[in-house]
Amino acid sequence: SRTVTRDADGALTVGGIAVARLAEQFGTPAYFLDESDFRARCRAWADAFGPDADVFYAGKAFLSRAVVRWLQEEGLNLDVCSGGELTTALDAGMPAERIAFHGNNKTVAEIERAVEAGVGRIVLDSFQEIVRVAHTAQRHGVRQRVQIRVTVGVEAHTHEFIATAHEDQKFGIALADGQAAEAVRRALSLDGLELIGVHSHIGSQIFDMAGFEVSARRVVQLLAEIRDEHGVELPEIDLGGGLGIAYTSDDDPREPHEIAKALSDIVTRECEAAGLRTPRISVEPGRAIVGPTAFTLYEVGTIKPLEGLRTYVSVDGGMSDNIRTALYDAEYSVALVSRTSDAEPMLVRVVGKHCESGDIVVKDAFLPADLAPGDLIAVPATGAYCRSMASNYNHALRPPVVAVRDGEARVIVRRETEEDLLRLDVG
Ligand code: LLP
Repeated sequence: SRTVTRDADGALTVGGIAVARLAEQFGTPAYFLDESDFRARCRAWADAFGPDADVFYAGKAFLSRAVVRWLQEEGLNLDVCSGGELTTALDAGMPAERIAFHGNNKTVAEIERAVEAGVGRIVLDSFQEIVRVAHTAQRHGVRQRVQIRVTVGVEAHTHEFIATAHEDQKFGIALADGQAAEAVRRALSLDGLELIGVHSHIGSQIFDMAGFEVSARRVVQLLAEIRDEHGVELPEIDLGGGLGIAYTSDDDPREPHEIAKALSDIVTRECEAAGLRTPRISVEPGRAIVGPTAFTLYEVGTIKPLEGLRTYVSVDGGMSDNIRTALYDAEYSVALVSRTSDAEPMLVRVVGKHCESGDIVVKDAFLPADLAPGDLIAVPATGAYCRSMASNYNHALRPPVVAVRDGEARVIVRRETEEDLLRLDVG
């Protein structure tokens, strides 16, 4: 990330602090998050979309009280998808009206809490939820602002997207067969709901803008149908998150201003063609904001060379702090950061300490052949979906998140302890 540099000896510094010092002070494994970079990315998104649009950070990528405060200070809103995320947001002082509540199976208790708190929008994910939220709002004597999540028949994966007519997935209400139109009909008929717009999220780690464009076009078409049938022009659309980041040097991600321009151009053009007022656009980037801002620092332990194959480098963490390689075949890079080395590169597989062969952090990478136990290695771009998907597998203790800024480092999520583990074990 921006403030990560190497000093004269080749040792990595982050926010002006040598990683060896960080390791000494905070231990390994640990996530180090560059707060200035996080804030700069928030501002880049806010600036790219401008005052007539809203950026909701997707908390599922990584959420903590400090993050919630940064978002507030940088003028972003927040998308939460569980009672736990909602609690964290409210506890850290995020104004409820700046929170969007998502999820395909929000519990009645979660809906109750969201309505009671006064969240800015609940994104309705099913026909049943339309009724549940309407009833809850009515009981509280309020009209809850809602969007309807539609599935537009676009599935995007990284460099490609597929447009299909039918949806085979748990999220949202299909545009196909008039399902979404029927959902709108019902939502408009219920007193407890104020339908403010339509929502579409097509996937994650996307590089191809074409998927977003097809999605935007289909959402605007729905707005036109709604206008024709009900005489109302819904004022907002949300086009979700999903912008990809660079995990390795092969990835060439789009910048926020590129996606902002592409989306606003297509929405404006389609609305003009349909004779609609241009709705307010919102987006929900998670990975693109937090992903590049953090790296995981590990200490090298056992090294097992396999002649003619590769060298297995075991670190003091693994799939419990980064499940993405095992789960999605995700690609990461790795670097020796505690010293420089002129040794030849060797092909390595960085693996964890868990009792599972699939416990891989970096599948194929090169590290200097003189790598030794005790060296520190860093895996970049672990800010998104690593700490938030961390587990206690093998009773691993989940690593801390340390925020670094202007030469100062502070823990924002502390390392788990064995006492934490035992506290939950009440048998
Ligand atoms: N909005 C909605 C409704 C979403 O479902 C998601 C992600 C986002 C926004 C944020 O997407 P992003 O900008 O972060 O791509 N665990 C997976 C990613 C799952 C994403 C789920 N939804 C991974 O590690 O790649």
